[in-house]
Amino acid sequence: MLEDKDRIFTNIYGLHDKSLKGAKKRGHWSQTKKHLANGRDWVIDQVKASGLRGRGGAGFPTGLKWSFMPKEIGERPHYLVINADESEPGTCKDRDIMRHDPHTLIEGCVYAGFAMGAKVCYIYVRGEYIREREALEAAIAECYADGLLGKNAKTGWDYDIYVHHGAGAYICGEETALLESLEGKKGQPRLKPPFPANVGLYGCPTTVNNVESVAVVPAILRRGPDWFAGFGNDNNRGTKLFCVSGHVNQPATFEEAMSVPFRELIEKHCGGVRGGWDNLLAVIPGGSSVRMVPADQIIDTPMDFDSLSALKSGLGTAAVIVMDRSTDIIRAIARLAYFYKHESCGQCTPCREGTGWMWRVMERMVEGRAEKREIDMLFDVTKQIEGHTICALGDAAAWPIQGLITHFRPVIEERIDQYTYRSDKDGRVLEAAE
Ligand SMILES: Cc1cc2nc3c(=O)[nH]c(=O)nc-3n(C[C@H](O)[C@H](O)[C@H](O)COP(=O)(O)O)c2cc1C
Ligand code: SF4
Repeated sequence: MLEDKDRIFTNIYGLHDKSLKGAKKRGHWSQTKKHLANGRDWVIDQVKASGLRGRGGAGFPTGLKWSFMPKEIGERPHYLVINADESEPGTCKDRDIMRHDPHTLIEGCVYAGFAMGAKVCYIYVRGEYIREREALEAAIAECYADGLLGKNAKTGWDYDIYVHHGAGAYICGEETALLESLEGKKGQPRLKPPFPANVGLYGCPTTVNNVESVAVVPAILRRGPDWFAGFGNDNNRGTKLFCVSGHVNQPATFEEAMSVPFRELIEKHCGGVRGGWDNLLAVIPGGSSVRMVPADQIIDTPMDFDSLSALKSGLGTAAVIVMDRSTDIIRAIARLAYFYKHESCGQCTPCREGTGWMWRVMERMVEGRAEKREIDMLFDVTKQIEGHTICALGDAAAWPIQGLITHFRPVIEERIDQYTYRSDKDGRVLEAAE
């Protein structure tokens, strides 16, 4: 288990003083000015050397992303935008940073803004996160009062942070939809290119980063990139917040070293699988938007980006959804299909029409009121959505269903057989796909 001395988030459960005074006692803000004096490139190089990959889902290298911002600040200001929308089902890590350890994020925002030449940062908070927003605003106010933010800041970098409260739409977590929403428009993703580093908020160079990605940066700079890179396998470095839900004895959010095997993660932090390991059916390891992995494949898998993508799944947001044998696996995925149908912004035809179509077929499959040929038809439709839309919500809607069909086709067929048998007896006629 990760030792306490190696934890970045020392107040993730809110057991200590979260105020600026308390945060300073735990080491925050201690070397900010000294580090900034080393210059923009130094900060970016340290983050690159740490191997940090974005914690918002896609795992893109953070230092590299920062280096895409223009080197010179021209007529257009640069912006840092923090993605605190956290709407991915199962994901509840950024909220704990904001409500219990907000200074990790705020200090990280200063470093990230400085590294990319931004004087202004917006934090876009999920609509439902009322207490989180309040905690964050209180912490930002403390920083202004202490001279850490604003004009003539003690850090040497004049910097403003504004908190923007969203209205609670999953799609506003997609970075370009978030920028649209921040500009006061309907939250619908933009076509890329141009990418935000060139044309982002108000048409200016912008970088959007997840809360956790930025909140770990102060610790990386204080303790050195080699320390951070000392955890995890090659290309999957650092410590990571995991949020485990579902059929474990103690669901929890906790920090652990990247690449720890699934079994260890669950045994050490969650008291094991409900009913024991033989009772495990499948796991969705990265929030709902990745393919599930059946029990026998995941048990000894290192929990990191590359190991899970080798299983055609993903680490995503590291929101691990554990399902035991009591789960109606078809119903579970039908529920997710409903979520994506509900959250589609409607801009692209394959997503707008496809998510509804898939959900309706999935609902019939839950009952078994379908034909076996429709399983392949459904799979085919997921392939027509995947990769054919403006944003990744289309892929996110397709993958859970692909995972179900790949790993649990016999369960779907059995349900159809049972329904057909009952229907024949009652003399009912099967309905075809819509
Ligand atoms: C539909 C959809 C929802 C998303 N929701 C979030 C979210 O709530 N929080 C987040 O950090 N990233 C979310 N993302 C990913 C962002 O688009 C973006 O990749 C991320 O904020 C980049 O931050 P990172 O490089 O620090 O990981 C979402 C992406 C999609 C397609
Ligand atoms: S994929 Fe879906 S959510 Fe994304 S832009 Fe297209 S319609 Fe909107």
